[in-house]
Amino acid sequence: MTHDELQQAAQEHLLLHFSKQSIDDLLVLERGEGPYVFDTKGNKYVDALSSLFCSQLGYSYGEEIGAAVASQLSTLAFNTNWGTAHPPSIELAAKLAEVAPGDLNRVFFTSGGSEAVEAAWKLCREHFLAIGQPRRKKAIARHIAYHGVTLGALSFTGVPKFKEPFAPAPIDVTHVSNTNMFRGGPDGGRVTDEDAFTATLLAEMEDAIVAAGPDEVALIIAEPVQNAGGCLVAPRGYWKGLRALADKYGALLMADEVIAGCGRLGEWVASGREGITVDLVSLAKGLTSAYAPMGAVLARDGVVAPIVETGAVFRHGITFGGHPLAATVALKNMEIFERDGVLENVRELTPYLAERLSTLLELPIVGDVRGDGFFWAMELVKDEDDTRFDQAERDKLLRGFLPGRLREAGVIARADDRGDAVLQIAPPLISDKAVLDDIVARLRDVLGDAGVHMDVGSAAAGVA
Ligand SMILES: Cc1ncc(COP(=O)(O)O)c(C=O)c1O
Repeated sequence: MTHDELQQAAQEHLLLHFSKQSIDDLLVLERGEGPYVFDTKGNKYVDALSSLFCSQLGYSYGEEIGAAVASQLSTLAFNTNWGTAHPPSIELAAKLAEVAPGDLNRVFFTSGGSEAVEAAWKLCREHFLAIGQPRRKKAIARHIAYHGVTLGALSFTGVPKFKEPFAPAPIDVTHVSNTNMFRGGPDGGRVTDEDAFTATLLAEMEDAIVAAGPDEVALIIAEPVQNAGGCLVAPRGYWKGLRALADKYGALLMADEVIAGCGRLGEWVASGREGITVDLVSLAKGLTSAYAPMGAVLARDGVVAPIVETGAVFRHGITFGGHPLAATVALKNMEIFERDGVLENVRELTPYLAERLSTLLELPIVGDVRGDGFFWAMELVKDEDDTRFDQAERDKLLRGFLPGRLREAGVIARADDRGDAVLQIAPPLISDKAVLDDIVARLRDVLGDAGVHMDVGSAAAGVA
């Protein structure tokens, strides 16, 4: 199809995810190369969002990964992991257990992130049924967190506007404060005492467990760095505190690492950096660097042992979970990570990216720059007191101005206001300094213009 035919056919036939269904001039990307993508008019963009936090390797490994896939498909195109299995899923499970911290040794495969979250919940429930604690049916999650939107996963998601049309949620989940250090201080401003903030958050978490009924809570679920709300980094001691609370009240602790895992923060399993082992981990997106769709749940030996010992059946299955094609891609992805030093690249360049992005604070519209690894958000504010934009202003900025201006600047980034107004980036993990510099330079132009457009500070103030 030509560019115009694609636009027409998309309008008539393609239902877009999380989008208005009539988009004039839909961005249709048809080709990728390294960290760049190209649209059907031949325009080039630096993909500073890795296709929604997925394309860890960027776009130039298709031939190599394709050769591995071709070999697998001509050997065995498909078999399930229901009662039978096949070499790629077994080898991938073993490889993930090898790179995961502690005794996160058991792996269940899915086709994506929401399915991984729901499979983790069912594993958690089966665990408590097997140890004779059937009353544990509740969970604690955090405000504004996104854990997927299939009906089960939607229970954990803390974004009211996504939940309300489909209420009531099937799982009883209490939502508590997230780790917003920019707005979580006692007066609603920046946190100045990190340890006190941690203590306040953990006290709230404990209150929520007690209120729900300590013998009824099965799971605490959180992301190592929360995406929705804009890369909310946990304060010092927070995860150790969650671990202690889960242990104290007999609940399981889960890290949803659909974004944070698979190298985005420089580790396969990012929660391991906190000096603890969680009981359950969900992975997806970067597990295959998006060369195929796949998700996974990692579980500790102790979570699965009672199910094995009682001879119980895990009453859950997904036909394509652990598909040989996807498992082959994931294995190849892990091999390339090791060979090309992808985790090392993220670790080495994180301080550099942090420093470059912090220069954007010179722009009056940028109130905060936060994140970790290759996962960052700029919170956009109205004035030097960090006043929030109201709804009409957010519409004008995030939905009116930024999408077109970002496109014009040749950079793909995410303007989001599920929490406060942020612009987010998550570059491919193979990006070098030159790519990161290029991204920051383009963001500087766009955000400088955004400040002028929104009349923040004096016109074009701070634009170097
Ligand atoms: C933290 C987290 N969990 C779960 C999901 C759901 O994953 P999927 O869209 O693959 O179902 C997402 C998706 O963005 C996510 O960011």
